[in-house]
Amino acid sequence: MSEPKRLAGEKACEYVKDGMVLGLGTGSTVYYTLKKIAGQGLDVIGVCTSVDTENKCKELGIKTSTIDEHDPELAIDGADEIDANRHLIKGGGGALTREKIVDYRAKEFIVVAEERKLVQQLGGTFFLPVEVIQFAWKRTQRELKERFGFERVEKRDFTTDNGNYILDCHGKIGGAVEWEKEINSIPGVVENGLFTRDVKKIIVGSGTGVKEI
Ligand code: 5RP
Repeated sequence: MSEPKRLAGEKACEYVKDGMVLGLGTGSTVYYTLKKIAGQGLDVIGVCTSVDTENKCKELGIKTSTIDEHDPELAIDGADEIDANRHLIKGGGGALTREKIVDYRAKEFIVVAEERKLVQQLGGTFFLPVEVIQFAWKRTQRELKERFGFERVEKRDFTTDNGNYILDCHGKIGGAVEWEKEINSIPGVVENGLFTRDVKKIIVGSGTGVKEI
């Protein structure tokens, strides 16, 4: 149990109202949000970003729908790194493609994270996850390394909810806005974990409390 994650995850519920369609992220911080939503008996419809979150909603009795049926009013999701421009690296849990579809479709986006996720430069402490199709993944791996100068690009021992692989790219991110688009232009790439859409609030939990930035 992580107190900073709990503080951040639970605080996000202050933005949740009965009747809302909510984009629900993936990971241990958002799990605290889900538990709080259920605990408060809030009547929401969750649009889930992973099978894992879908299962958790089922256990907690939170109703769900799909992004085909509903664009969320608000999405709440975690992050692996957050820089001063409010750009993110996500995908530590391998759910980045569904997260991007849901988080980008939402009218507003709130990020919940523990304080250590705030960084000077993206890629400094975490790697950038990239979802790729299985076909020619080694070719895609080489291209990621050569074009973007990553120190190493490692295939995770994991298959995503979409049946694809994740390549973890180690190294500093040159420009989040440009790279988010350019990485996706490589044939074989499905999606990457750079998130540069506008963020309404970043809710940060730490050992001393919770703050919003
Ligand atoms: C999953 C994600 C998560 O939001 C990210 O990894 C943060 O997870 P946690 O809240 O467990 O630290 O992007 O793909």
